[in-house]
Amino acid sequence: MAIGTVGVVGLGTMGAGIAQVCLEAGHVVVASDAAPEAVAAGVGRIEAGLAKRVAKGLLTDEVATAARARLTATTDSAALGAAGIVIEAIVEELAPKRALFASLHEVCPADTILATNTSALSVSAIAAGCGRPERVVGLHFFNPAPLMRLVEVVRTEVVDADVFASALAFAAALGKEAVPCADTPGFLVNRLLIPILNDAIRAMEETGASPEDIDRAMRFGAGWPMGPFALADLVGLDVHAHASEAIWRGLREERMAPPARLQRMVEAGLLGRKAGRGFYDYS
Ligand SMILES: NC(=O)c1ccc[n+]([C@@H]2O[C@H](COP(=O)([O-])OP(=O)(O)OC[C@H]3O[C@@H](n4cnc5c(N)ncnc54)[C@H](O)[C@@H]3O)[C@@H](O)[C@H]2O)c1
Repeated sequence: MAIGTVGVVGLGTMGAGIAQVCLEAGHVVVASDAAPEAVAAGVGRIEAGLAKRVAKGLLTDEVATAARARLTATTDSAALGAAGIVIEAIVEELAPKRALFASLHEVCPADTILATNTSALSVSAIAAGCGRPERVVGLHFFNPAPLMRLVEVVRTEVVDADVFASALAFAAALGKEAVPCADTPGFLVNRLLIPILNDAIRAMEETGASPEDIDRAMRFGAGWPMGPFALADLVGLDVHAHASEAIWRGLREERMAPPARLQRMVEAGLLGRKAGRGFYDYS
């Protein structure tokens, strides 16, 4: 199934990045956000993202200008009716996502695929009751979406096989590594990564090793491009704690639970790079 126009709902960090990726891949993109200031900020981020690609020599000026011209951004979600697929990237809460999917079902043609970029919620729970759960998939992009190559394509129990195949093909045609996964807590990457980062924090507490030493150990002993503490600071300690909590709720495995030290740091505003301080000081 040819996708054609892509709808993106939520023009925050992820939505703007996803819209940019889709524009660069040649799609017409209709993007919407409930907040007018978020629409303006999102468009600004997309334009800056395209300009950065030009500056790096990855896109020509002409291609970037043509990509920008394929974007419509609005607060009016009725505009999403033209889309072959709509990718949702709004706030990470179940109730607003469910309400949005029900309204997308009203606005979009019967064959439009509805996708969620959720990291930690159940795709099945978002899809349930929306009117077309068999046409709902997870498309889990990673931050920053224009740079990170992976998209986890999440399969629920009820998704139509053709819809899932189209979603996989769509993600691959964006130039991404499209990895199919089941709708289980944390999908694949977070299911593996979250407990490792939590283990690193607990190992620091138990052994007295510093974040620097643990990071050096994992870089030079395990071949990691970046150590677990540098990675946690980059992801954001609040984002990591939130995902950790959600996966712990889903699986009830101790290693998934956010360590007390992590929670204290989040409460103290030590959120990592974006806050200027986390396990490392960036000031
Ligand atoms: N930030 C990350 O690292 C990351 C990575 C992967 C997935 N995700 C997921 O992507 C989604 C978005 O995350 P984000 O970091 O971009 O959030 P964000 O807060 O930067 O952006 C969310 C946007 O959604 C808009 N919004 C909220 N409710 C809305 C509604 N009902 N209708 C229309 N617009 C609405 C807000 O105005 C805001 O602009 C979440 O589900 C998150 O879990 C985030």
